[in-house]
Amino acid sequence: MIAFGYRDARLHADELPLERLAEAVGTPFYCTSLSAVERTYGAIVEAFQGLDVSVCYALKANSNLAVLRSLAKLGAGADVVSEGELRLALAAGIPAERIVFAGVGKTERELAFALDSGIAQINVESFPELALLDRVAQARGRTAPVALRINPDVDARTHEKISTGKAENKFGIEIDRAAEAARLAHSLPGIALKGLAVHIGSQLTELQPFRSAFERMAELFRALKAEGLPLSELDLGGGLGIPYQDEAPPHLGDYADMIREVCGGLGARLQIEPGRAMVGNAGLLVSRVIYVKEGAARRFLIIDAAMNDLIRPPLYDAWHDVMPLREPPPGAPLAPVDIVGPICETGDTLARQRPLPPLEAGDLLAICSTGAYVSVMASSYNSRPLAPEVVVRGGDWAVVRPRQSFEELIGRDRLPDWLEESGASDRQRAVEGVA
Ligand code: LLP
Repeated sequence: MIAFGYRDARLHADELPLERLAEAVGTPFYCTSLSAVERTYGAIVEAFQGLDVSVCYALKANSNLAVLRSLAKLGAGADVVSEGELRLALAAGIPAERIVFAGVGKTERELAFALDSGIAQINVESFPELALLDRVAQARGRTAPVALRINPDVDARTHEKISTGKAENKFGIEIDRAAEAARLAHSLPGIALKGLAVHIGSQLTELQPFRSAFERMAELFRALKAEGLPLSELDLGGGLGIPYQDEAPPHLGDYADMIREVCGGLGARLQIEPGRAMVGNAGLLVSRVIYVKEGAARRFLIIDAAMNDLIRPPLYDAWHDVMPLREPPPGAPLAPVDIVGPICETGDTLARQRPLPPLEAGDLLAICSTGAYVSVMASSYNSRPLAPEVVVRGGDWAVVRPRQSFEELIGRDRLPDWLEESGASDRQRAVEGVA
């Protein structure tokens, strides 16, 4: 599944030397291998062979239209968490009947839009949401297909900011009230109760927390069915981790076998919502060294990518591998460096004390495993334009999201009439770069 590797001492994405892409599009830029995404999707489908499972890709990991389109063509479904994501999934050609809508704070407008689109399933996370959805559906003369997201109170043993299945987290309906919620849902005229859903967190590196959560869900599913509630779907969420450094997340086959064992006999149609596992290692971020700065205590590589392009290290203490685009010769001396961006915060440190060969201003490097939760979490903080996105497949490549222009960046703001004065001409000059 390796999309990126050295060939002739140059780091390649599929068949393309990344240096060539850097010359063509400038830095920083995100690069995603569509062949890697497609292979991973195929491997997931294959691992679940013989089981009735639909794979609903969690768009939040990477919602670039080209990524979505390539998955749509393979028949993938989608897990969306906002009207924007739902519109993107539809725009990519993923049919509404393969889309699941999750999230704790769906608004009335979002629920209405989802119902009108003919969405397959809405995962309801609270009693107030159930009441609102019932009202919205009735007002539109529809019945909402619902799965209840249950919080099983299981520790996912992942970073606290991406753990979602403990009782103290905001997600899901507490398992002790699941039966009450299911009976209520079944009684509401605007609701068609279809199933249950669970998602305990992201970047899980052990199978056991999944197993604990799924066992609880299987038991609940059986009990509610025995009561006569019309359950047919069980949504097992996402969460499967990827190796960033030396983690050894569960193998796809073991994950699928465990699901087969715990949920295979329920007579339920299963859904999974992988995000990171599908795209995380299919992408990297290419950046150029601006300065090598010898600090009093450390050496810094100041690069042209920053925390606005990659927020995971400051936000989750995440570790991303760093590879020079030119392969260091065997035996090249390695010395520890901090890799930092130009942003005016100490938090703008993308990698700490990494043993790297000597790099100079102008050299190119890749920050690895940035296919998930990276470009989607980017901002233009410090008024840095959003970096472009490139996709490759074999020997083909394309810029699928151009670099944000200064015109777009400045043009987002409007001046009120009472402040206008010379504003318009100043703006024009700033965009055109004339002093
Ligand atoms: N389903 C639900 C209901 C979710 O909340 C999530 C992720 C997924 C599926 C997909 O999970 P995955 O397979 O990608 O682990 N920004 C964080 C990750 C946040 C995950 C949020 N929910 C990061 O960069 O690590």
